[in-house]
Amino acid sequence: MYLYILVSLVLALIFAFSCHTAIRRHPGIFYGIAFFLVLSEVIYYQFGIHDIAPQWFTAYIVNPFKRGAFSTALFIIVMYLGALDSKHLFVRKLMGIRGQLSILACILTLGHNIIYGKKHFVNLFTNPWAMKPQTMLAAVLSILMICIMLPLMMTSFPSVRRKMSAGSWKRLQRLAYLFFALTYIHVMVLFIPNWEKKIPDIIAYTVIFGTYLILRVAKATKKSSHALGYTGCNPTS
Ligand code: HEM
Repeated sequence: MYLYILVSLVLALIFAFSCHTAIRRHPGIFYGIAFFLVLSEVIYYQFGIHDIAPQWFTAYIVNPFKRGAFSTALFIIVMYLGALDSKHLFVRKLMGIRGQLSILACILTLGHNIIYGKKHFVNLFTNPWAMKPQTMLAAVLSILMICIMLPLMMTSFPSVRRKMSAGSWKRLQRLAYLFFALTYIHVMVLFIPNWEKKIPDIIAYTVIFGTYLILRVAKATKKSSHALGYTGCNPTS
């Protein structure tokens, strides 16, 4: 049993902590490396390198990227940073590279989109009735996910962000919650019909996304009760 999401989460955390300073100083280099990885993945499958490469290489090195698990692990870190208490040292440390991690996650997701989209989007638009219902639904959902992800990625670049008002930037970034929810639904739609094999993955994703939901709601409730408390002490406000 190899839980791609858990292994990816551990690797993504090691990556974020160990490269923290370098990512902050030279984000462009990391974006370049991410694009290079996406291109390599696509070439790996497109030109049959996958057929001659050792099986362990595909299973343990390429698959976490190709299956979208590593990029989703980066998204998970980005989302948890918004749900955890910023008093924790590790939250404060990673908060400084939150935008960069989110851009890296979006770039790396492109590899998964291209490799799976090449087959499933072609089927969706040419012969949808030949598709399994779960694959069709996951492909339709993923169109919505890509439509949300691209503006989120573009507006995470400081140069684009500076051109927007703080209010409209914040409103747009709220779409990240919808994107995150759709990612969970996308995975469940694909994994639940195959639950005999995928039960450990289903549990892992449900615990990760469920814990996030609890933490985020708790943080929002705490914030609003603080705000109410403040208003209560200050009748003029
Ligand atoms: C923003 C876009 C997307 C995100 C964040 C995303 C995320 C994921 C994640 C996290 C998994 C489970 C990986 C694992 O733990 O094994 C997955 C699986 C899968 N995704 Fe996506 N995905 C996206 C777009 C797409 C697109 C465009 C397609 C195809 C049209 C697609 C098709 C699939 C398929 C077929 C699987 C099952 C893989 C398997 O079990 O072999 N995804 N996706």
